[in-house]
Amino acid sequence: MCRYSAQSTGEAILHRRERQRLARMRHERRRADYLAGRWAAKAAVTHLCAVPEPAAIWLEPGVLHQPVLGGPGTGDVAVSLTHSQQVGAAVAFDVAHPVGIDLERADPLRAGTLHSALTPGEGEITRGLRLDPLLAATALWTAKEALAKFLRVGLSIDMSLLEVAAWRTEGEWWRLEYRHVVSMKALVLAVDDWLLALCVPIRTAVSAPGLPGSLSAALACDLAPVGAVL
Ligand SMILES: CC(C)(COP(=O)(O)OP(=O)(O)OC[C@H]1O[C@@H](n2cnc3c(N)ncnc32)[C@H](O)[C@@H]1OP(=O)(O)O)[C@@H](O)C(=O)NCCC(=O)NCCS
Repeated sequence: MCRYSAQSTGEAILHRRERQRLARMRHERRRADYLAGRWAAKAAVTHLCAVPEPAAIWLEPGVLHQPVLGGPGTGDVAVSLTHSQQVGAAVAFDVAHPVGIDLERADPLRAGTLHSALTPGEGEITRGLRLDPLLAATALWTAKEALAKFLRVGLSIDMSLLEVAAWRTEGEWWRLEYRHVVSMKALVLAVDDWLLALCVPIRTAVSAPGLPGSLSAALACDLAPVGAVL
């Protein structure tokens, strides 16, 4: 799993197909997000399998807009990626062990939207936590988006189907369980006001080495190879 900011990126890591796509993007913010996401994804893939060089592989949108990995050496590996405010994070995984990822910054300007997205049950959960309500609502949101990515449906799904039913602390992570998708859980990491969620199979263990105090340090290094305990 890797994180890169757009500032640290260039286009050299892009495959020809990705450069063509980038060239069609008119908005600077979207271009920066796209680059940050590709950087993070390629770093994650390189960590998992032997690819000759980042520009030899590509990520293209599938029919549901999900990232589809291609290129030499990528085998059975797939990717989930996210970007927010020009920060990208991604996780590469074996297709036999799918994962979804989401990254958000707790943003007071979105507080109304995030709170109105809570179900009554989730509202009850957040009220029982000794946590800043905005941070809690953002954590729930990232958990749901990570599940929506895992399912490949994005936010086209009725959000109530992504509902979170339980929340507890597990080491450095918050572990959130879903009401309807009981085979999956979200592991959410809070670093300052950033929230990173991984949606993984319920029995998957994710090890995180001692976490430094900033997202940059936490995610710029390989934070946690996702390992299945099945
Ligand atoms: C997927 C979605 C939840 C992402 O949320 P977001 O917070 O705006 O954006 P994030 O930065 O977290 O994630 C964006 C990445 O998610 C990935 N993604 C997009 N759609 C996806 C899907 N259906 N499944 C899995 N991953 C998806 C992409 O890699 C995208 O980055 P890229 O466009 O640079 O490659 C949201 O964009 C969405 O709901 N999209 C609609 C998808 C849809 O309707 N698909 C059906 C079309 S027929």
